[in-house]
Amino acid sequence: MASVVEDERVECTVTVCRDCCCGSPAKHPGVDHDGQIERLRAALGPEHRVRTSLCLDVCAQANVLVVQPTPEARRAGARPVWFGLVLDDLVLDDIAGWVKAGGPGRAELSAVLELSVITPPAPERPGTDGVGNPG
Ligand code: FES
Repeated sequence: MASVVEDERVECTVTVCRDCCCGSPAKHPGVDHDGQIERLRAALGPEHRVRTSLCLDVCAQANVLVVQPTPEARRAGARPVWFGLVLDDLVLDDIAGWVKAGGPGRAELSAVLELSVITPPAPERPGTDGVGNPG
């Protein structure tokens, strides 16, 4: 008889804001915005999900990216971590490395990466994390 084992293959979801400001060549002309998403997907592989979203309401921090914890880490109390002004491949690579190390609740942020963490806006609906998931 097969036993029920939690699927540990499910990892983090990275939500990359792409709307009016994030991803805008007019706002940040020197950034390869599409390339950022390709770079993340290549670095994280199929274990992690990379998706885009509409405006996350912190446009002054464009480009914004949110890392949601693994389901296991979320159950243990981890919450999404928001990053702002992600305009440099070095920052993007640091975020990818942290996600691969476990992400929210499972891996420590480096002091340098801490500088890119931003406060998320207040959720529109109590009990959500602002990116469509229960908080
Ligand atoms: S477009 Fe990303 S926060 Fe507004």
